[in-house]
Amino acid sequence: MTHGMRKGLTSYGDAEFSLFLRKAFIKAMGLSDDALARPIVGIANTYSDYNACHGNVPKLVEAIKRGVMLAGGLPMEFPTISIHESFAYPTSMFLRNLMAMDTEEMLRAQPMDAVVLIGGCDKTIPAQMMAAASADVPAVFVPVGPMLVGHHKGEVLGACTDCRRLWGEHRGGRIDAAEIEAINERLAPTAGTCMVMGTASTMACIVEVMGLALPRSATIPATHADRLRSAEASGRQAVAMAISGHPLPSEVMTPAAFRNALIIMQAIGGSTNGLIHLTAAAGRLRIPIDLAEVDRLGRAVPVLVDLKPSGAHYMEHFHWAGGVPRLLHELQDLLDLDAPTVMGGTLRDCMNGAELDPGQQVIRPRSAPINAHGSMAVLRGNLAPRGAIIKQSAASPRLMSHTGRAVVFDSVEDMTLRIDSPELDVTADDVLVLRNAGPIGAPGMPEAGYLPIPRKLAVQGVKDMVRLSDARMSGTAFGTIVLHMTPEAAIGGPLALVRNGDSIRLDVAGRTLELLVDDAELARRRATLPAISPGAAPVPDRGYAALFHRSVLQADQGCDFDFLVPGPLPLK
Ligand code: FES
Repeated sequence: MTHGMRKGLTSYGDAEFSLFLRKAFIKAMGLSDDALARPIVGIANTYSDYNACHGNVPKLVEAIKRGVMLAGGLPMEFPTISIHESFAYPTSMFLRNLMAMDTEEMLRAQPMDAVVLIGGCDKTIPAQMMAAASADVPAVFVPVGPMLVGHHKGEVLGACTDCRRLWGEHRGGRIDAAEIEAINERLAPTAGTCMVMGTASTMACIVEVMGLALPRSATIPATHADRLRSAEASGRQAVAMAISGHPLPSEVMTPAAFRNALIIMQAIGGSTNGLIHLTAAAGRLRIPIDLAEVDRLGRAVPVLVDLKPSGAHYMEHFHWAGGVPRLLHELQDLLDLDAPTVMGGTLRDCMNGAELDPGQQVIRPRSAPINAHGSMAVLRGNLAPRGAIIKQSAASPRLMSHTGRAVVFDSVEDMTLRIDSPELDVTADDVLVLRNAGPIGAPGMPEAGYLPIPRKLAVQGVKDMVRLSDARMSGTAFGTIVLHMTPEAAIGGPLALVRNGDSIRLDVAGRTLELLVDDAELARRRATLPAISPGAAPVPDRGYAALFHRSVLQADQGCDFDFLVPGPLPLK
């Protein structure tokens, strides 16, 4: 096994010449032979002027380098794609696999004995998990950490649950234009990721519980000094891994670690996106994520962390309550505490290191949960034969069993054009249906599942309705919203058969989602379906978009590319 500068030599047909040339060039950076002989720790720098969530990355890089050098290693910083949710057209999910490919190939192409991956904004940690699993280079994750909270008129605010709530108030005419502008400056007051339990926080907690990141690194606020100390310690740890060559991601990302992640995801009120990302990362190691098991865990694991959008607090409060290690105490009978971590020990060691503040109120005991069931439930039925997800912890209890008349939108664009029309035939008891917003149909499965309440109902004070789609939803959003309906409409999923006025029944307790139309009529409708769904995006003919269209898998397979999953080609 080769190490350091000898790893992955560029192919010139003469290995010694390749090394000679490599060293000649790297010495232009002023590095000595002593430095070049050290264990090499790559540092994936995901800073970008377009990514405010990663605004603290330069400081993190500095701290990681310090840790690497204190431990006798050579830090080598390199850039990868960085993705911010609001600066990714058509949607960040469209680009996640591109970032995963970029990161994986850079881990392979460049000589490094270990790597520190700095991620945070929603799709970045998932892309890095997929890359680490495939490249299998010893890896430590450093989440950038959550933002601090904002304040407005005595109220605590956070991106982006409050972005959506307050925008809804503005749409309903209860907040005027001047005030919404003032709020706009207060929702994201520091660098760092959204400080509610959105996708970024969910994925940071997941890498911590899976043993891929240092204890408490998911929750330390982005701007706190502890965040830098944690980054420095991560750099030190990466050197130990570079020297020993272990643990490899494949030794940490085990079936037990993925199951632990699913348990924590339910207990934190985690984002539904987390399920897609975990499925994709697990798929790289041929570890199946079974939706039936996800649902079983959803029934067994209560929501214990009192954070928005399911509860009341924000990430900094979770941190001071003890963060993930403290939460492990409440769930220890369900977790596999023997799962290994990058620290060289087990998850039990992380749990045993927890700060136990008896007065904290953010992490509830099992006897007094926020929600008796976990955050997510898996639905099945004739509208979603391969499954659909509802974040029940952020839904309205009165709508969990509901039958309503379908009001159908054929695409995100159709919804945008008609949702606020005074002519729209809609009541608060109807079921809003959005289709052609899945991985292929949109493309990229945008976070359009949080359909806005039609303006004429919003002004009457309607705050929630049953909404269904093959799209995703931001982890920061709330409402009675069914997502990831699989297979999607654009490839002929049953969502394509729904017509305005059909009855749809949602029964979360029974885990069913049914279109109340008889099979013979559905067969007639299917026979007249056009080959290409009229609401779906046109088929791209070049570039990454064409690759995405050809290769992306459905939500129940993590929306990875078929050619990146090892082994036989998975079902499309
Ligand atoms: Fe980056 Fe929310 S927009 S984490």
